[in-house]
Amino acid sequence: MGVDSLGYMALKVSKLDAWRELLERVFGMEPRERDGVVDYRIDSYHHRLTLTADTTDSVEAIGWEVSTSEKLAALVSTLQAHGVAVTAEGADLRAQRKVKELFSFTCPMIGNRQEIYYGPLVSNTPFAPSRGISGYKTGNLGLGHVVYWVKDLAASVKFYQDIMGFAISDYIAWDDNDAVFMHCNSRHHTLALMKDGPNSPAGELMHLMVEAQSYDDVGYGYDLVRDMGIPVMIEPGKHSNDHMQSFYLQTPSGFWLEYGYGGREIGPDWEIRNYDAPMLWGHRFVGG
Ligand SMILES: [Fe+2]
Repeated sequence: MGVDSLGYMALKVSKLDAWRELLERVFGMEPRERDGVVDYRIDSYHHRLTLTADTTDSVEAIGWEVSTSEKLAALVSTLQAHGVAVTAEGADLRAQRKVKELFSFTCPMIGNRQEIYYGPLVSNTPFAPSRGISGYKTGNLGLGHVVYWVKDLAASVKFYQDIMGFAISDYIAWDDNDAVFMHCNSRHHTLALMKDGPNSPAGELMHLMVEAQSYDDVGYGYDLVRDMGIPVMIEPGKHSNDHMQSFYLQTPSGFWLEYGYGGREIGPDWEIRNYDAPMLWGHRFVGG
C-alpha cells in the first residue's frame, strides 16, 4: 500500500544559471535541455530533477513513484476516500515527466503539489556525470529524502502513515525542533516532517538530500562549494539516526541541499528510537 520511493522533483527557479552551476559543477548531474527547461539525470532514469526558469522560486511538484498500475489505482482510491481531490494528468505532463501514468493532488497536510506515478522511462545509455563522481545511490531507494515543515505534526504523520503508506523510522527533538522521520522503502527516511516555527513556515521545503556512492564525491563537492562561494549552512558531520555523513548548502532558491554518503538502511528487525540530538559529531551550524 502507498508509495514506493521519492521519484523526482520539479523546481521553478529565478536563478537558473546559478542552479545550473550548482547541479553540474558541484553535483556532476547530467543536463538534458528542452524548451527553456533543464532535466537532470543522475542514474538510469531519464531524469530526477527538473529546473524551469521563472520569476520566483518554488517547488513545482514532488513525484512519488508507485511500482505498479494496480498499486497506483489503489492509492488514488484511498486518497479520494479521505476527501483528497486527485487529478488524472494528460499526455502532455506525462511526456514531460517521462512516466506511463500520472496523477496529482494538493497535500492537505503540507499544502504542496504532489504527483504520483508509475512506469518511469529509463535510458539505454550510462549516466554521464558532468564531473568525476562515482554516482548516486538511488534504485529502489529513490532520489533521496525531503524534509518539510508542517503546522500539525501529529496529523501530518498520520496522513503519511495511513494514506501514503509510510512507516515511522525514529524521532529527534532538540532545541526548538521536533522531527519525525519516515520510510517507504529501506532508505532510512524518504520523508521527514518537522513542527513549524517563526522562521520555519509550514509548507516550505527545508531540504532535499541526495546520497553519493562514495564519500570522496561529497568531499570533493565540499571543496568546490567552498571555492565557488556557495553558502555552506551546516559543516560536514554524521547524523545520529540514519548515520548519514553529509554537509548542507543553501541553493539559489533558498532551501537547502544535503549532500550525503553512507546512510544506514532499514531492515526487518528495525526498532524505532528517539534521539535528543540530530548529530553524532560535526554538523555545526555555520556561525553557530
Ligand atoms: Fe536530511
